[in-house]
Amino acid sequence: MPASRILVWDLPTRLFHWLLTVGLVVCFAFAEFSGEHSRWFAAHMLIGIVLGLMVVMRVVWGIAGSRYARFDSFLFSPLKVLSYVQGAFTAQGRQYVGHNPGSSYAIFAMLFLLGTAVVTGLMMSGGGEAAEELHAASSYALVAVVAVHIVGVVWYSVRHRENITLSMITGTKLGEPADAIPSSRPISALVFVALVGFVTASLFLNYDRSKGQTKFPFLNTAIPLGEVERAGEER
Ligand code: HEM
Ligand code: HEM
Repeated sequence: MPASRILVWDLPTRLFHWLLTVGLVVCFAFAEFSGEHSRWFAAHMLIGIVLGLMVVMRVVWGIAGSRYARFDSFLFSPLKVLSYVQGAFTAQGRQYVGHNPGSSYAIFAMLFLLGTAVVTGLMMSGGGEAAEELHAASSYALVAVVAVHIVGVVWYSVRHRENITLSMITGTKLGEPADAIPSSRPISALVFVALVGFVTASLFLNYDRSKGQTKFPFLNTAIPLGEVERAGEER
């Protein structure tokens, strides 16, 4: 077992993880507790759009980011995943510096389901009724995968006696110095946070309840958030 702590997760990846976790919980809370016809429901849609932007940025980082954040570092064959999961229930099973084969598929599934929820949400708020069931299905499937993800993290932590949740905060893990990434990429992290903050603020500030729409900065396109009003008229 290697004894030194090395940098594995860059800062943009860690910020993405915890902002996504908090954002998703808030997004769900507004969907479940504010009621579709309440004025607070807009917060569900606006935060959902921000989560969509974050996923797009994570995909960019999955191609252009540092070693363990890049998708090619955690693309495993299904066979590898199967043998990993088998190993997870036996005494052996190796530790991974980056994402392990078990968590990799959960990560891709979460990103895909998040994307589906955002796209179908936007279709619905623009008046498309057909997307409604897919929106609910992808959102609840997402909850299921998140639950598996958290159980997997706890299981890994107990089995290897390594607090990987803390690693997602500090960025460091036990490993060989040669496997470390050279930088936590603070400038990219700053750009990420600034963009998320700016877009969140503009979506909320440009939200017009009477018109049922908001504006996305840069593109300056109006996003219809009309489902609330229409649904209100129906019932
Ligand atoms: C809404 C809840 C959550 C979502 C959507 C979520 C999503 C994700 C995603 C997308 C990744 C990949 C990170 C990346 O490379 O960008 C990840 C990794 C990780 N998450 Fe979460 N997460 C959630 C909650 C949690 C919680 C509550 C914990 C701690 C108990 C946790 C611990 C971790 C750890 C340790 C990793 C790295 C796993 C590995 O070694 O492969 N996550 N999570
Ligand atoms: C990660 C992003 C999102 C998640 C996880 C999510 C999740 C949910 C959930 C759980 C519901 C309740 C479904 C039900 O039980 O019927 C819901 C409803 C809804 N969401 Fe989202 N949502 C997201 C993004 C969005 C976005 C971006 C929009 C629009 C811009 C949106 C618009 C709506 C609307 C209009 C409803 C009411 C649908 C209905 O039940 O008639 N959502 N969402």
